[in-house]
Amino acid sequence: MIRSAVTGVGGYLPENIVSNADLARIVDTSDEWIIERTGIRQRHQAAKDQATSDLAVEACRRALEAAGRTAADVDLIVVATTTPDMTFPATAAILQRKLGVPTCPAFDVQAVCSGFVYALSVADGFVARGHARCALVVGAEEMTRLLDYSDRGTCVLFGDGAGAFVVEPVEGQGTTDDQGLLGFALRCDGTKTDLLYVDGGPSTTGTVGHLRMLGNQVFKNAVVNIAEAVEAAAEAAGVAVSSVDWFIPHQANQRILVGVANRLGISEDKVISTVAQHANTSAASIPLALWVGIQDGRIRKGDLLLLEAMGGGLTWGACTLRL
Ligand code: UT7
Repeated sequence: MIRSAVTGVGGYLPENIVSNADLARIVDTSDEWIIERTGIRQRHQAAKDQATSDLAVEACRRALEAAGRTAADVDLIVVATTTPDMTFPATAAILQRKLGVPTCPAFDVQAVCSGFVYALSVADGFVARGHARCALVVGAEEMTRLLDYSDRGTCVLFGDGAGAFVVEPVEGQGTTDDQGLLGFALRCDGTKTDLLYVDGGPSTTGTVGHLRMLGNQVFKNAVVNIAEAVEAAAEAAGVAVSSVDWFIPHQANQRILVGVANRLGISEDKVISTVAQHANTSAASIPLALWVGIQDGRIRKGDLLLLEAMGGGLTWGACTLRL
């Protein structure tokens, strides 16, 4: 059977680093509070003239190089973003032009912090059914553009960055030893839109708006919901959560990462955490974390991975894959 496999991973973080101490100079917070409640020590911030698509370009170039492919090979682009360059066209279309990818399907997926898992599932549909042979799946965000720097409950949590996967078809045996995307679980509970949202939009206020969050309520939903989706994605793949080599969660808060891992019986040394350095980069956080784990030699080809995320919607989801 044909499986969709991740053949290259790339990431990019903008140069400018904002420390907790930098934020404490503009809002009533402290390095101690942020580290204790979130695990975050710093975040990257895009330059004024750097758009989301610019971050995506760098991540895609690195992912293509890792896969041994070029822009000319790409025949599908799916970008998960909640901070597009413009309301339209899709950031995927702008990315296609900047990379020099030939005419192909290119579009954005909007599921906020869960966007990358959703985008991966969409690309799986194209690749496993033979409609694409070299897909770029991208999470790219400039969350700092949405922040209200007078709201200390949100402005300390987010950062900018991009990560990308190259996804290609591989021949599998239909077993759990196959390389490829093995199982998904995607969820949304639209009755909880008021827990995490942006207070603007083209058809309401006509403005971009600022990020608003009832942090402790999102926190409570996160731990319970994510664990259920992770179990479901493992079951869909036919594997036990305990057999997973690496757990790669969305990087919102170290306490959530640990809470979910404990609930699932996953030991903390199997969890990839980048929240201290990157903060919450929304849809970019999973591919960035995987990229970091590959770069430092922890994650290797053949490893069984579990990815999970949760964000505005509320949306959440998980994916089991063998690299
Ligand atoms: O990626 C999308 C998903 N998002 C998330 O998963 C985020 C989920 N939520 C969280 O990570 C946590 O709820 C937060 C980190 C946002 C907040 O932590 P918390 O332990 O839930 O704190 P809290 O909101 O209950 O606030 C506790 C106290 C409050 O003071 P009082 O009312 O007890 O006096 C806040 O005003 O901490 C205060 N506080 C701060 N103090 C210093 C809130 N933000 C800050 C801050 N610095 N930045």
